[in-house]
Amino acid sequence: MDAPVRDAEFGPGPLVPPFPKVHTRPLGGSPLGDLRIAWEMSRNLIGAWCEEDFDNLVTPYHFMGQPGLVVSDPAGVHQVLSSPNFRRPLKLGRPLKPLAGEGLLLSEGETWKRQRKSLAPVFTPAAIGGLLPHFAAAGVNLVEGLTDQGTANLSEAFHHATLDAVLRALFSRRADRDGAVLAEIARRYLEGPAHFRLLDFIGRGRDDLTFADGDRRRLGGRWLAEVDSLIAQRKAATPADDRPGDLLDRLLAARDEDGHPLPDQEIRDQCSSMLAAGFETTSRLLFWAAYLLARDPATQDRVRAEVQAFAVEHVASLDDLKAWPLLRSVLFETLRLYPTAPTFGRQALAGEMVLGHPVPAGAMVTISPWLIHRHRKLWDQPTAFLPERFLDQPHPWGIEAFLPFGGGPRVCIGAGFALAEAQIILATLLARFEIGLADERPVIPVASITLGPNHEPDFTLTPIVQARA
Ligand code: HEM
Repeated sequence: MDAPVRDAEFGPGPLVPPFPKVHTRPLGGSPLGDLRIAWEMSRNLIGAWCEEDFDNLVTPYHFMGQPGLVVSDPAGVHQVLSSPNFRRPLKLGRPLKPLAGEGLLLSEGETWKRQRKSLAPVFTPAAIGGLLPHFAAAGVNLVEGLTDQGTANLSEAFHHATLDAVLRALFSRRADRDGAVLAEIARRYLEGPAHFRLLDFIGRGRDDLTFADGDRRRLGGRWLAEVDSLIAQRKAATPADDRPGDLLDRLLAARDEDGHPLPDQEIRDQCSSMLAAGFETTSRLLFWAAYLLARDPATQDRVRAEVQAFAVEHVASLDDLKAWPLLRSVLFETLRLYPTAPTFGRQALAGEMVLGHPVPAGAMVTISPWLIHRHRKLWDQPTAFLPERFLDQPHPWGIEAFLPFGGGPRVCIGAGFALAEAQIILATLLARFEIGLADERPVIPVASITLGPNHEPDFTLTPIVQARA
């Protein structure tokens, strides 16, 4: 029998926030078992793991007649993510391509290399430092919208704030009418088409068996048209001298190796990829961080003391964010417990041995930060919220079992962007409000492309009265 859903334990000791049912035994191993896995995963991508997965460092499997390997061992993960013999699975394009087009997220080979090189200057620390005023403006906009509310759906508010931040950073635009349309499309996409379907598991490629993907194509078409219109508006506008630079400026100024500007469709697809990859992930990070801090008021108070000691208004450079070490550790611990990209995979181009197991050409390797970050052999108290574990780790990327942004050459290009944005938005919120939960039902993580909540609780917002100096 399956283990019951475990709710949060609120006794003495660290907070252990809720997580979905962990099955006592593996579900697969037969055609019926495979269907059960596909069914569980289409409802919740992290819903098919069993107890032994949190102890095993490598598990060979067969799923729908195809061999595969779950790899949690850090050396094996490193091998797979760094090897040119493994690529992102083709079928991942099915739910992603309608929003991300042919941008960096889904490109491969020489095209990917060229795109990554031309985008690299957009994401250097100096370039991200230049985006801080956009993040600060999105934070102010968020708290102004929450003033006098008493309670609020922070999941929705963060969704809007991170879209606002990325629209400002990409296009120097606020999330007004265009933003509202994009937010609505993204929300509808995530509620339905973003979930993996049975045909996604059966199909071999991204353009295979797509006859049932009308909703993906329809919403994706509307999304790309909105992005096209934002770019066209910028091109038609008179340049303003007084606005901070944005990502679109850099894409329009980028030149390929022959000195040519990027083609219009590529600029559109890169912007769409950034929007698709950039705002929902960060919004989920903020949601889970707020949830954990609402459940752990003592840690919330300590973080607030940090952001009161060095106010967000004083942040002028990325270096200034070092004034908030606990806030940063809270975000890392949130990404450990709730990795917003909870599972990614690779497909072998040719046969290769991984940790002593043969991986034939075409086979899948599953790498799940959800599993690795809660692995019993890799972490002490793996299910507990203990932000202090990151405090003396200035470079948590050195921790082999911590990979919220992936690894190898295809590591997330927007990691620095997301972390700077999340720190500023969360600092702005905590400086203005004490947050609690108005709804005591446990919030269970549900994964599709990102890791969201099974329901969106209302949060209480108590204004902070600033002591006079
Ligand atoms: C908390 C926030 C974020 C998380 C957890 C996250 C996570 C990830 C992960 C795990 C990957 C690699 C997937 C794989 O290897 O298959 C990835 C790739 C990527 N991310 Fe992020 N991401 C976040 C924010 C962002 C932001 C803000 C942007 C852009 C503004 C962005 C743009 C991208 C792009 C373009 C790729 C593809 C890179 C390539 O293939 O070369 N992400 N992200």
